[in-house]
Amino acid sequence: MIGKAQGAPISITGLGAYVPNRIVTNDELSTMVDTNDEWIMERTGIRERRIAAPEEAFTDLALPAARAALAQASMDAADLDLLLCATVTPDMMFPTSSALLADTLGAKDAAAYDLLAGCTGFMYALVQAYGMMAAGLAERALVVGGDVLSRILDWTDRSTVVLFGDGAGAVVLEKVDKPGFLGFELGADGAGGIHLSLPGSGSRRIDDATGNGFVHMNGREVFKFATRVLVSSAEAVLERCGASVEDVDVYVPHQANVRIMDHAAAKLGIPRERMVVNVDRYGNTSSGSIPLALAEAQAAGRLKEGDLVLMTGMGAGLTWGSALMEWTG
Ligand code: ACO
Repeated sequence: MIGKAQGAPISITGLGAYVPNRIVTNDELSTMVDTNDEWIMERTGIRERRIAAPEEAFTDLALPAARAALAQASMDAADLDLLLCATVTPDMMFPTSSALLADTLGAKDAAAYDLLAGCTGFMYALVQAYGMMAAGLAERALVVGGDVLSRILDWTDRSTVVLFGDGAGAVVLEKVDKPGFLGFELGADGAGGIHLSLPGSGSRRIDDATGNGFVHMNGREVFKFATRVLVSSAEAVLERCGASVEDVDVYVPHQANVRIMDHAAAKLGIPRERMVVNVDRYGNTSSGSIPLALAEAQAAGRLKEGDLVLMTGMGAGLTWGSALMEWTG
């Protein structure tokens, strides 16, 4: 699916992020599994990640991120009419985390539901919220992306525990008087889904006692997929919007692995200093990755009015998605 934004301009007017306090370094990981800081840094660029406390669930991470985004947008939660959470680690399958979060925030008039698209969840949710607003079904939306992936990792599997971390980010979307979002591209390839799966988590099989309740990943296949779609999806949305790669001021790829991100930036021809990188400090936070990186870029003064911002996510499904926007400040 690909398209140029139509109708009334819609943009991000508030951004927030939250990560748990506990830092787990590569050295600490090497006391749990057979790995070491040198291997992890060389293969992934990840130095440390945040891990949720046992009592912290998805909505505990989503809530402070959502509150920060609403505060930045100077918006009362009661004025929201749409609330979407993109996550593969909701507090529980139902009630949805979106409904729970809406209740805690006091978003009593909001339609609220969860959306599953692996690590691309935030991008999918962003496009859905945009589409609902462009169609006139919603005026003000809150989109949260986040995960507590530490809960679904096999902590004896060195090939996955080194990659992931916990975190959440949130954005408020509103109608504005300047362009904001310019276009989107989303895709899915279920044939490759087997390379990144949580086999024992649904109606085909629920059996977390056997190890099927943990993430299964074919790292090499995911690596090949990721390096391919980060480039093809970005090129597709740029072309559809009539923009060129030289116009991109801020590039926010999914924070999966520095090698994957560097490869994509080089292949696209985006100078590294225009790319936002925080995977070194948080690892791959799944649906939290892009809003967390956006919030950090904003805090560092890197998002200026008029900047062309390109975001591309990818993940389980396999899925991918890009958005191009002009930052509206
Ligand atoms: N520490 C030390 N050694 C390790 C570790 C580890 N944590 N993990 C694997 N190794 C070993 C392997 O056993 C192998 O040893 P061998 O040569 O003796 O057999 C060797 O290191 C090389 O293993 P590879 O799997 O070939 O390593 P590769 O260079 O492919 O890097 C990695 C592995 C980092 C997982 C890479 O494939 C990758 O980043 N893939 C993409 C993963 C990803 O991004 N997933 C999520 C994306 S989607 C989403 O966000 C949900």
